[in-house]
Amino acid sequence: MKLFEKPGKENTDETLKISVERAKRGDIKSIVVASSRGDTAKKLLDLLEKEGLKLNVVVVTYHQGFHGEDIISMPKDVEEELIKRGAKVFRGTHALSGVERGISNKLGGYGPVQVIAETLRTFGQGVKVCYEITVMACDAGLIKSKEEVIAIGGTSRGADTAMVIKPANMNNFFDIEAREILCMPRVKKL
Ligand SMILES: Cc1cc2nc3c(=O)[nH]c(=O)nc-3n(C[C@H](O)[C@H](O)[C@H](O)COP(=O)(O)O)c2cc1C
Repeated sequence: MKLFEKPGKENTDETLKISVERAKRGDIKSIVVASSRGDTAKKLLDLLEKEGLKLNVVVVTYHQGFHGEDIISMPKDVEEELIKRGAKVFRGTHALSGVERGISNKLGGYGPVQVIAETLRTFGQGVKVCYEITVMACDAGLIKSKEEVIAIGGTSRGADTAMVIKPANMNNFFDIEAREILCMPRVKKL
């Protein structure tokens, strides 16, 4: 496992390289990557194309409205380019916030899903994101719950964490398993 000194997007290239090296072993068919605006996803596709690796690439992006009412974070032309290059782009409700965030925003307080998210964040934002996007991709039917995936997440932008995960659907959330941590930041706060 590679440990980065600090979290953040400076670790993107190395995180993607480590992920692709792991994929080369050939036992994993899917990579699930968090990419808000598409930058990390494009870099991943560049690397996979360079290596001639054909995988099921699932790009999970922010839900519409995350950055303000009706705003879509990933520009349409970027989304189209990713799809043209063979990736699947998923935009939907975030598994580790969901309606619970709406309740907290309106009424204050917190719920159990936020407690799960905050607990996972003690391993770094990227670990929380890897769990979340894996569940989202699985619920969207883009990966199978029985097939290990490589999940890639980061701290706000880019990537600094990669894991091998056995996915689960949200209704069986605790069946998810962190099988390998390929890289993560030692210090968690930017
Ligand atoms: C569904 C989803 C949830 C995310 N949650 C968090 C989070 O809780 N904390 C965080 O630091 N980054 C979060 N991110 C950001 C990602 O970890 C990643 O750094 C970012 O999507 C990369 O986008 P870029 O390719 O446009 O740089 C989230 C991204 C997505 C798509």
